[in-house]
Amino acid sequence: MHYIGLLSGTSIDAIDAVLASIGAEPPLRVRATHSHPIPPEIRDAIAALTQDGASEIDRAGVLDMAVGELFADAALALLENAGIAAKDVRAIGSHGQTIRHRPDAIKPFTFQIGNPSVIAERTGITTVADFRARDIAAGGQGAPLAPAFHAWAFASSSAPRAIINIGGMANITILPPQDTSQVLGFDTGPGNTLLDQWIKRHRHLDCDEDGAWAASGRVNEHLLAACLGDAYFALAPPKSTGREHFNLNWLDRLLANGFARLSAVDVQATLVALTAQSICDAMNRYAPETAEVFVCGGGYRNATLRKALAARVGGRRVASTEALGIHSDWVEACLFAWLARRTLAGEPGNLPSVTGARRAVVLGGVYPS
Ligand SMILES: Nc1ncnc2c1ncn2[C@@H]1O[C@H](COP(=O)(O)OP(=O)(O)OP(=O)(O)O)[C@@H](O)[C@H]1O
Ligand SMILES: [Mg+2]
Repeated sequence: MHYIGLLSGTSIDAIDAVLASIGAEPPLRVRATHSHPIPPEIRDAIAALTQDGASEIDRAGVLDMAVGELFADAALALLENAGIAAKDVRAIGSHGQTIRHRPDAIKPFTFQIGNPSVIAERTGITTVADFRARDIAAGGQGAPLAPAFHAWAFASSSAPRAIINIGGMANITILPPQDTSQVLGFDTGPGNTLLDQWIKRHRHLDCDEDGAWAASGRVNEHLLAACLGDAYFALAPPKSTGREHFNLNWLDRLLANGFARLSAVDVQATLVALTAQSICDAMNRYAPETAEVFVCGGGYRNATLRKALAARVGGRRVASTEALGIHSDWVEACLFAWLARRTLAGEPGNLPSVTGARRAVVLGGVYPS
């Protein structure tokens, strides 16, 4: 059966669209992929909404519909490229675009835009969306959701494995052999978002292509230690984070404490080290027995970050998730295609051991075709 997964992550770099065939058992097979551009003005409007500001309800309302249209365009372009008709797709699973994630507020909430009624109306395909809210309603963080899919798709019966997704934020899934009730997973901290924002400020680029700029700088160990001193890293899971916490204001506050003369390029090099070190610290603390590490997300395309990880994993095997059958760029989108299937089958999509929810629940709302 064909399912479509749609998402735009915290990096707001593109809408990932994947067409996959999914049955009750793995493997999931990716049939087609499409990366749909986000027009700069929409990207900027989304980025603005991730921070506090005036007229938020009006701006969120307009963007909810505009991003819904864009997600529908992404699904339609995917189908056209693949030569598949809408009637041959059982459902779309749409994550939408997170504009606020506050799992630790007094009244915890998470907020995604990309109106699913618009997607269902425009594509004629049943759309499943709003996956995170139900986990929060059940007492969880609503994130990360990926570990449930990683456990389904990537579990090994022999070696203790870690799956690491390096998107805007980075998250880890720890897969003990055999026992999926023991799966752990949480956001380790920033992935690419600080790298993107720092190079944007200093070189007016959206991303440090291949980590080339960072590679020409030197890691400042004092700044690295100051970054790692942030209370988030010491927090025990369940935990999740976002751009609300790790952003340039956060970095500027640290830099103001004695790092004013550090060159911009050395800061970039240090931010790469921060992503790699916080991932490895999490693994060493919660799964020191991990033998194999599989990486996905845009961060895998950053050679400097790959090297920084390899230098810190202590002899463990490191590869991309492609070695497990799904290319590193498409794992997150596959997650939402898979969640759509789970929801329509009446099967739970969260892992209470990961999100901290009281129970496993069927996630999301269904918007019929
Ligand atoms: N060639 C590259 N060189 C360096 N960095 C890259 C490259 N390609 C992608 N990236 C980084 O990966 C990021 C996008 O990664 P990805 O799409 O996995 O993250 P995301 O959209 O934030 O998703 P999520 O947060 O949901 O995991 C870009 O913003 C960029 O920082
Ligand atoms: Mg992305």
